[in-house]
Amino acid sequence: MYTQAIDLKPGTEPTAAMPAPGDRERAFEAAIADDRRIEPQDWMPEGYRKTLVRQISQHAHSEVVGMLPEGNWVTRAPSLRRKAILLAKIQDEGGHGLYLYAAAETLGVSREELVDALHAGKAKYSSIFNYPALTWADMGAIGWLVDGAAIMNQVPLCRCSYGPYARAMIRICKEESFHQRQGFDIMLALCRGTPAQKAMAQDALDRWWWPVVMMFGPSDSESIHSAQTMRWGIKRLSNDELRQRFIDATVPQAELLGLRIPDPALRWNEARGHYDHGPIDWSEFWRVIEGDGPCNRERLAARVRAHENGAWVREAALAHAARHAGTDSREAA
Ligand SMILES: [Fe+2]
Ligand SMILES: [Fe+2]
Repeated sequence: MYTQAIDLKPGTEPTAAMPAPGDRERAFEAAIADDRRIEPQDWMPEGYRKTLVRQISQHAHSEVVGMLPEGNWVTRAPSLRRKAILLAKIQDEGGHGLYLYAAAETLGVSREELVDALHAGKAKYSSIFNYPALTWADMGAIGWLVDGAAIMNQVPLCRCSYGPYARAMIRICKEESFHQRQGFDIMLALCRGTPAQKAMAQDALDRWWWPVVMMFGPSDSESIHSAQTMRWGIKRLSNDELRQRFIDATVPQAELLGLRIPDPALRWNEARGHYDHGPIDWSEFWRVIEGDGPCNRERLAARVRAHENGAWVREAALAHAARHAGTDSREAA
């Protein structure tokens, strides 16, 4: 493992024990080239650290905001079994947020700062969670497609060059595969049900397909951060490669359900060995990212409200911890 527990603060003079700046950079580059993990105590370039803080915190925010569209359906789940499954899935997403905030904190930022940036509208989260969940079939489409896309994105992140992020992703991916299957199972039940239920499943696919295809982010040629994050081993596959993998995996699943993907240009390309797809409406993607999607304001307001309503829990937890710290020191004395 590459460890180098020294980080020069601005104005600190290197001493005999400290490697020269050039050595630190070389050690970092060698670790990246050898595909070794970078750990929190290791020296890293400021750009690498900032990129990770941005990516991990956006990811954490997406997990937490992603609880909202589904939370909307807990009380309306069609059976106790479905309700228990949905509740477990939403709780998993909250847990994913926690692991990821903790991973981000290893990079020298606090969870409060990250959450404040989200609430102030300065930090981004996945565009997909700004779309409304209108029917029960949307719980199926979200699990099947959104969690399915998340898996495509996150499996390569288990090999991310930053250790704490890579390790968090291993557990998260295991849970995501349960999420994807529970969504597909909802779709399957609807598609085997009455014509009205099947129509509801088709309608959900029609509304979620393009936003999910956009979820992978802009094309490689347009993506400002892609090339550098790939060089650093943070990302392993480009947005377009991930999108293609998702489409290739999902088309046969839609066929199994007997549903039609709302893309008239979608067809198998024998020469490429992949599906070709129609043009993506990037103006919609950028509109949603910039804050003008169907539910941006509602989602952010719900998060801020939840945070404010949870203030007493944080205060109580701190008071409890302080009291125990006091007890411990009395016992020690
Ligand atoms: Fe998740
Ligand atoms: Fe999930």
